[in-house]
Amino acid sequence: MSILAAVLFMLVTAGCYDSKSGRVEFGGAINFELPAFPETGSHAVLVFSEMHYSDSYRVQEVPRLLPPEGSVPVTGGEVKILDLDELKGLDIPKEFVASYDDVNAQKVYSVNCQVCHGIKLDGAGPITTLLSARNDGSLAYDGAEPVNLNSDRVRELTDGEIFGYITWGGRPGLAAAARGKTSSAIMPEFGKLLTEEERWELVHYLRSRIGSK
Ligand code: HEC
Repeated sequence: MSILAAVLFMLVTAGCYDSKSGRVEFGGAINFELPAFPETGSHAVLVFSEMHYSDSYRVQEVPRLLPPEGSVPVTGGEVKILDLDELKGLDIPKEFVASYDDVNAQKVYSVNCQVCHGIKLDGAGPITTLLSARNDGSLAYDGAEPVNLNSDRVRELTDGEIFGYITWGGRPGLAAAARGKTSSAIMPEFGKLLTEEERWELVHYLRSRIGSK
């Protein structure tokens, strides 16, 4: 670098280097071009137009920071719908149909729903037969019966309604939320626990097993 700078300095002082065009002339016999010195910009003296200054990702460079978890995408966050008529009209969004993964959906179901709705979707999850700690043969769970998801009652629902009930915690959850109240229903409000994609994935999962009417 310092040798190059010295050579350039000599050329400039000898008057045969034009710093604007970069042209060098020695008595008309030798002509060549050197990089010009731009007069503006963050690197006013840009001897070489180095790739170093470009926005590329370089070897051994620390990974670029990704947006923090839960950042609102530029396309907007989820707008949670409370109106039953509006919910009824919703279909599984195309992008989630395209990315549907049955193995993953099965996992999401088994972790979040199976304890109540059962491995066969029949509403007979382990919670319904769990014995109480009183040790007198009574049951631990005395809440509302988890709905049999493989029944006409659910088969007749539209995809959007199923999505709404998963999001708000069943029919009582949706009704409470619509009145601005928190639900006292047994079923959790999965809108707070699962992503929009996971909830639609569950709709797809249920539909693929129970069919429609
Ligand atoms: C703690 C137990 C529990 C868990 C966990 C649970 N549910 Fe429920 N679910 C219920 C109960 C109880 C109802 C009936 C609510 C009511 O109407 O009182 C219900 C209702 C529903 C309904 C509405 C059916 C209808 O016709 O009213 C759907 C759909 C549903 N659950 C799907 C799911 C899915 C999918 C999951 C997992 C993400 C899930 N549930 C997790 C207990 C549970």
